[in-house]
Amino acid sequence: MNLQTAALILSAVLHTVWGQSPVVSVRPRTAAVKLGETVSFHCRVTSGSQPVQLEWKRTNNQPLGDNVKLGPDGAVLTIANVRLSNQGGYRCIATNAQGKGMITTSLTIRQPPKVRVTPPGPLSVRAGESVTLECSVTGKPRPSISWTKQGSETSLVSTTTDATASLQVTVMSAEDAGIFVCRAQSKEGLAEGRVELRFGGGASTDGFPQASVTEKDLTAVEGQSITMHCHATGSPTPIISWSKLRAPLPWQHKVNGGILTLNNVGRQDSGQYICNATSALGFSEAYVQLEVDSPPYATTLMDETVAGPGDALRLQCLAHGTHPIRFRWMRVGGASMSPGAETTKDGLLKIAQLKVTDSGMYKCVATNHVGSSEALTKVTVRA
Ligand SMILES: *[C@@H]1O[C@H](CO)[C@@H](O)[C@H](O)[C@H]1NC(C)=O
Repeated sequence: MNLQTAALILSAVLHTVWGQSPVVSVRPRTAAVKLGETVSFHCRVTSGSQPVQLEWKRTNNQPLGDNVKLGPDGAVLTIANVRLSNQGGYRCIATNAQGKGMITTSLTIRQPPKVRVTPPGPLSVRAGESVTLECSVTGKPRPSISWTKQGSETSLVSTTTDATASLQVTVMSAEDAGIFVCRAQSKEGLAEGRVELRFGGGASTDGFPQASVTEKDLTAVEGQSITMHCHATGSPTPIISWSKLRAPLPWQHKVNGGILTLNNVGRQDSGQYICNATSALGFSEAYVQLEVDSPPYATTLMDETVAGPGDALRLQCLAHGTHPIRFRWMRVGGASMSPGAETTKDGLLKIAQLKVTDSGMYKCVATNHVGSSEALTKVTVRA
């Protein structure tokens, strides 16, 4: 082996040892904090050739958020006054001439448990009748859920999923009535919800099914989830089914006894929903009217208008979304609107005689009770 070959091998060895892409570690690997708290993640380069550039990104590619600050060398990411939108993964990315190294960490937000019990009660139940009490909980970490009867510590047998517990109570006598308590507990705290069942006397003469809904009118905003609650009495216990008037149930729906859940509702899901309680004796229907509202989405008829001085200008703004929608026209960048400008209720901007100074960007803002949206259009007045 001559000297030149030896030098080549040595440089190759040095290259693999020193010419390394960065390796990073992060501390802590996960953090769980309460809303309003402050949390920091430290990213450290454990090996790799200098210089190394550090940067942080969200794993969902969303912007970091205005309450997220980076230290001077990019190693420390601090989130002050944590809010729900900060939850998720963060990636520390180290880059040098040889390549990239990255590591992720995640932030979860701890929330004390909250409980919602439906139907809200008090409920009057006749001998032989059953009711289903539903307890839905939220919180992080997931709280444990249990039903008890006030005055007793024994947990009652209920059907539980991770966020709900349904308790079926059959009332045979006054002793079976009382106050039922749903308890949600986690490291973050304890929450309780209660519902009173009153004994409504002897069996109803016919036990005919009777359906009733907790809320007859519901309003939701596009994209939300909505839950409808139907309660049925009768003996034998009726079976509840859900349908939609003159249409199939939305694709993203779930039925759990008397509870109908619609996820990610759209405007086409508006309408009348029917709860049908059926037993051998007959059936009873109850109705829920759902109205799904959507924020406006504004567009302008044209991206750009070129006209001469003295010409008339008509700019039309259009919007879909829940009515009523109000329109406003303004100029972008603070220039004042031509004194001769006129705006109509349906989004038309009219300028009878254009001047060169009317050139610029114009903005239409469409607003309804859910939100607002903007559309831009350019006007060029050329002599
Ligand atoms: C309710 O159920 C009964 C019996 O099954 C049926 O005859 C009736 O058409 C149903 N009503 C609706 C709205 O589906």
